[in-house]
Amino acid sequence: MSQTIRAIRGMNDCFAPDIHAWQQLEAILVRATKRYAFDEIRFPIVESTALFKRSVGEATDIVEKEMYTFEDKNGEFLTLRPEGTAVCVRACIEHGLIHNQIQKLWYMGPMFRHERPQKGRYRQFYQLGVEYFGAESWDTDVEVIALFQHILNQLGLDSFTTLEINTLGAPPERKAHRDALVTYFEHHHDKLDEDSKRRLYRNPLRILDSKNKEMKELLEDAPKIQDYMGQESLNRFEAVLKALSGLGIAYQVNPQLVRGLDYYSHTVFEWSTDRLGAQSAVCGGGRYDGLVEQLGGKKTPAVGFAMGLERLLELKQEVAPFSEGTLELFIVSDEALRQEALKLAQELRELKPSAAVETYCGEASIKAQLKRANKKLAQTALFLTTDAWAKGQVMFKDLATGEQKEASFKEWQQHWQKNRDAL
Ligand code: HAM
Repeated sequence: MSQTIRAIRGMNDCFAPDIHAWQQLEAILVRATKRYAFDEIRFPIVESTALFKRSVGEATDIVEKEMYTFEDKNGEFLTLRPEGTAVCVRACIEHGLIHNQIQKLWYMGPMFRHERPQKGRYRQFYQLGVEYFGAESWDTDVEVIALFQHILNQLGLDSFTTLEINTLGAPPERKAHRDALVTYFEHHHDKLDEDSKRRLYRNPLRILDSKNKEMKELLEDAPKIQDYMGQESLNRFEAVLKALSGLGIAYQVNPQLVRGLDYYSHTVFEWSTDRLGAQSAVCGGGRYDGLVEQLGGKKTPAVGFAMGLERLLELKQEVAPFSEGTLELFIVSDEALRQEALKLAQELRELKPSAAVETYCGEASIKAQLKRANKKLAQTALFLTTDAWAKGQVMFKDLATGEQKEASFKEWQQHWQKNRDAL
């Protein structure tokens, strides 16, 4: 026998019943983006490698070690997208979507990073991201933060997450801070771990992000971006914080929060949870006013975020799981009533378009049919048996409680119609 071929490590298949939770999550997310008036954009999974090098940054973990890059048959270097912001900007420039206008976009789909797989960290993972282009004002930061907060509320997850926020200031302020960091860390070179030594000149800001407990004190005393920031940037950040409080959104200012991608300036933010172990960030984002120009477009301010769907779902399932079954009705019938069962299933689907209805096809005992209804986690089983049917009666059973009732077929139909959802 030949060896079976398996999925790539860190890349997962998804099927029932888990897929039901994914679909419920996605429906809530899509509805939320609509409520906040964002439009969907779809773009390719594969892009030129140069796109990510120029945007995410040559010295970031993503570009240094995590990209799936290959040379295609034309000798071009291509990369499976590790994130969506750079791709979204590329697409917007290419199609003139952000020229002198406000553009609010969202996207959802797989991203690829060659990280060490573990719970909550995958090599193919799913993100939903939003990008708000064309407005520089502080209220756009607040609006996107409010959108993710709304999503957390919808999912019942707000009390299980913490929003951390920071400002990186304007690019010249960032540069002054960066220079001060290099000088400071040069003075304390012996206290740096290997990773930090490597980052010292390439990306000193990332040293602040280090989780190494032995460097905690060193990092706490490191130069703070706030000390290099002009009044304008400080006022801007104050306005964001004030507006968040005004909306009742709780936050913690974390001066160490720098984010792992190079394109940010001013506000950056991240939601994390203590319920998922090491991979605790469920959503992150910030402003990136320089990126559009850096990728060849006209200077366009922007802000956005992306959430990791696996992590969001793992958190949801941990604290307030979605219902597993999505099948409302399963029709079990005697052999002689199979034609009626098919007809009835059609009628019931039309009467209530949002409901899923299955009827057993093929020959099987009532017991075997019921077994399938239970396996599919159906809410109700409707029995069409020859004797009862002849009297215009049906029997239905709540499969969660086991409660059984008999009713006239007319009554049953009215009940079904009454619970009809408007679609
Ligand atoms: P990011 O922080 O790299 O930001 O990723 C956003 C989220 O994706 C993370 O908070 C996490 O939930 C999830 N994530 C990242 N890597 C993995 C992984 N290996 N496995 C599972 N989940 C993961 C960005 O990607 C930016 N493009 C966000 C943004 C949009 N900034 C502005 N606009």
